[in-house]
Amino acid sequence: SRTPVTVTVTGAAGQIAYALLFRIAAGDMLGPDQPVRLRLLEIPQAVGAAEGTAMELDDGAFPLLAGIDITDDAAVAFDGTNIALLVGARPRGPGMERGDLLEANGGIFGPQGAAIQAGAADDVRVLVVGNPANTNALIAQRNAPDVPAGRFTAMTRLDHNRALSRLSAHIETPVSDLARVTIWGNHSATQYPDLTHALANGTPVINRVDRSWIEQEFIPGVARRGAAIIEARGASSAASAASAAIDHVRDWVQGTPPNDWTSVALPSDGSYGVPEGLVSSFPVTSSGGEWRIVPDLEIDAFSRERIDASVAELAEERAAVEQLGLI
Ligand code: NAI
Repeated sequence: SRTPVTVTVTGAAGQIAYALLFRIAAGDMLGPDQPVRLRLLEIPQAVGAAEGTAMELDDGAFPLLAGIDITDDAAVAFDGTNIALLVGARPRGPGMERGDLLEANGGIFGPQGAAIQAGAADDVRVLVVGNPANTNALIAQRNAPDVPAGRFTAMTRLDHNRALSRLSAHIETPVSDLARVTIWGNHSATQYPDLTHALANGTPVINRVDRSWIEQEFIPGVARRGAAIIEARGASSAASAASAAIDHVRDWVQGTPPNDWTSVALPSDGSYGVPEGLVSSFPVTSSGGEWRIVPDLEIDAFSRERIDASVAELAEERAAVEQLGLI
């Protein structure tokens, strides 16, 4: 049988991990023939709760689950890891300024990046889910300079999936018949969900939807969906975030479908005027285990303005973490 793939999940006692770990163990991420070994990283005071989640994973009797290790030591958690899902992060507390938030997370993602560089497998692939996800990914990447930069990504797949779902409802077309939706920029309120190139059954959707619906409902509806979920559930998106993480890694490893693309935040190569190195969301395809930014799309004036605004926010975040000495 195949050698197990080692998957590290940080924040393993948290809400997202509670949904994510079971999907991984069931084979939804790496396929029905690929055994997995899980490494759970938590802070010391939450290791006990992570052990509880691991007990439930045992009780799932998953045929693909080859083992579970639980630790509060990043060096142990990332040793030999093939896929690192960085979910645990420091949430914004009362009275916390953005600089405080970036600094607290720099204290997590800097050392985790260094531990990945020191111990992970040569093929390591990293997905940052914990917020502020783009800049956390930048910090981890810059603390792992010997790992190819493109192995570090941040998650905008939940935003992408939200955009697909909203478009599907609005034009009464199944998600399976939609393609080429894009999320640009930061996983934040400034993100730009773009329908300019979107297709429904192979034909452009842009002519079928009102400008006013796009600008007043679609874009803010996608960007503010996280807040709407918190209001309704009394807790932030967890199962949908886990599902998006599964989609992200599955497409990375197994490839994107022909004639479609997805959205991933990755270190910019300068494409579309996004300054090199910023971890910004782009339309991407995947094959052979590598993301490729979709080239040569036409960007209209409205899109240009929206992309620039979100990228400006990312540039400010990068300047702030540079100033803090985190990168
Ligand atoms: P949660 O609070 O339920 O769980 C987070 C867990 O991370 C906690 O158990 C905590 O002990 C752990 N943790 C904190 N610091 C850690 C460290 N240094 N090492 C290992 N574990 C550590 O939060 P939840 O709901 O699971 O969300 C996790 C993160 O994902 C949050 O930052 C949230 O904002 C973000 N998120 C991102 C989304 C995206 O689309 N990119 C969507 C939804 C949430």
